[in-house]
Amino acid sequence: MAKTYSIAIDGPAGAGKSTIARSLAKELGYYYLDTGAIYRTVAYFMDILGVSPKDIDGVQRYIDELTIEIRYDEEGAQHMIMNGMDVTDDIRSQEIGQKASLVSAHAVVRDVLLDMQRDVAKAHNVIMDGRDIGSVVLPKADVKIFLTASAEVRANRRMEELKAKGQKASFNAVLKEIQQRDYQDTHRDVAPLKMCRDSIKLDTSDMTLEQVVESIRKIVLEKIGS
Ligand code: DC
Repeated sequence: MAKTYSIAIDGPAGAGKSTIARSLAKELGYYYLDTGAIYRTVAYFMDILGVSPKDIDGVQRYIDELTIEIRYDEEGAQHMIMNGMDVTDDIRSQEIGQKASLVSAHAVVRDVLLDMQRDVAKAHNVIMDGRDIGSVVLPKADVKIFLTASAEVRANRRMEELKAKGQKASFNAVLKEIQQRDYQDTHRDVAPLKMCRDSIKLDTSDMTLEQVVESIRKIVLEKIGS
């Protein structure tokens, strides 16, 4: 099999990972895998069943009844299929994001999802974003980026997104949600969010989207060529 290349982009919630990874993947002709969407699908499934994401016994009992499929449409957009049902849009709420953060702390969940993520990288050139891609999922990734920004900047960006959708929220509530997710994602025992020694850190607090994409493009070209 020909060598495949992999680019890992990790970082906290709201750092802009998906937007940047998606745009770069399109340009480079790589697959894009948003791994957060997989954890969100687990959270959504448990939510429908009325299982609390903190309830380790409940999560363990029902996880085998969940089949997750990742499909790509003609435009290359990732779709999450939960037991045959397309839940791509249903999993995007703040509430499911928060529940995904809690459900992802269980080792049983992470173990089930590990091979699914690795299989994508075995078969394709891929840009994967998440929390533990460089540290656990693809420790041999050709390029590892740690994308971050201050919690205030991330909250502001989130406020802009909500405004664009015509939704209202208080800045303090959004900031608090981000800080809580940061805490949960960095303090769990299994595969916590942390920067690897061989990651390149990019603080995007004072950068535009275009500047971030340009910086990562440069890093990728230096490391693996065109
Ligand atoms: O990237 P996101 O906000 O959609 O991710 C939702 C949650 O899923 C995140 O708060 C923690 C968890 N997650 C994870 O534990 N590991 C990953 N590789 C991706 C996401």
